[in-house]
Amino acid sequence: MSDQNTYTLVTGASNGIGKAIAENCAARGQNVLLVALPEPKLEEVAAALKEQYPTQSFDALGTDMMQKESPQEIYDWCKQNGYIVDILVNNAGLGNSGAFLSREASFYYGQMQLNMVSLVMLTHLFLEDMKRLPKTYVLNVASMASFYDIPYKGIYSASKRFVHSFSRSLRKELEATNIGVTILCPAAVLTNPDVIQRDKEMGKASKMTQQTPEEVAEYALARMYQGKAIAIPGFMPKVYKALGRIIPYSIQMRMLANAFIKQSK
Ligand SMILES: NC(=O)c1ccc[n+]([C@@H]2O[C@H](COP(=O)([O-])OP(=O)(O)OC[C@H]3O[C@@H](n4cnc5c(N)ncnc54)[C@H](OP(=O)(O)O)[C@@H]3O)[C@@H](O)[C@H]2O)c1
Repeated sequence: MSDQNTYTLVTGASNGIGKAIAENCAARGQNVLLVALPEPKLEEVAAALKEQYPTQSFDALGTDMMQKESPQEIYDWCKQNGYIVDILVNNAGLGNSGAFLSREASFYYGQMQLNMVSLVMLTHLFLEDMKRLPKTYVLNVASMASFYDIPYKGIYSASKRFVHSFSRSLRKELEATNIGVTILCPAAVLTNPDVIQRDKEMGKASKMTQQTPEEVAEYALARMYQGKAIAIPGFMPKVYKALGRIIPYSIQMRMLANAFIKQSK
């Protein structure tokens, strides 16, 4: 549980895994700052938490994290309101599938900005303050995709590999400090209509890994508090990760291309 005056900040908290993490943190007695796009559902999630946990503090900031200035806006908002962040959950991210040239370059620019640049900038902004607190955590949301090169999902899987690699290095750099770094690598979590559709097209292989956002949130936070480097929720995703080490790369690539081309048709 956080100190009474500190906050957990969750990006992408209006839906899916981020919302489930925000709700789980609230249930653990934490104050929570919710960040997402400026849509009514963000305020609705914050209002529901305020109603359910009246003695705790919640606030919401709507901002487009694909914009360069957004991380600074989030940090300044915390400073101006006296919010001290002791848990930073970098969850906001955008997935997709399809042949590389099927999207405008601007789509990938925004995806990379959100999945990688904003995450790094936000971490850079908050770490200095977090160093001064007794015990703090960074939970970075990558994906099972971070373990593979995935045809028809290349920018997404590369962006998640970036998150994975950055988080592992940062964890090592900070191992003698009060800041724990954990990487969350979920497989299929049915969170939004796009993910649900893509998952349907993937068939059995994806169905076997399915988890609810609530299951993922509970597991991720437990691993984070245990000081673990990685959280891979569910049994099948762990099996897939192990297979990735055994199956030769060229066969892996053929299997992944076959699986993910289905999503792009
Ligand atoms: N779902 C999966 O199967 C799965 C698997 C592996 C990893 N992940 C990762 O888990 C994280 C959450 O995924 P999810 O499926 O829970 O996503 P989701 O249901 O689509 O929710 C994404 C959240 O991020 C917010 N968001 C989107 N674009 C944003 C932007 N430009 N600026 C600020 N906030 C923005 C959304 O706000 P709005 O609701 O207003 O759009 C929402 O709160 C992502 O990093 C994703 O890559 C997901």
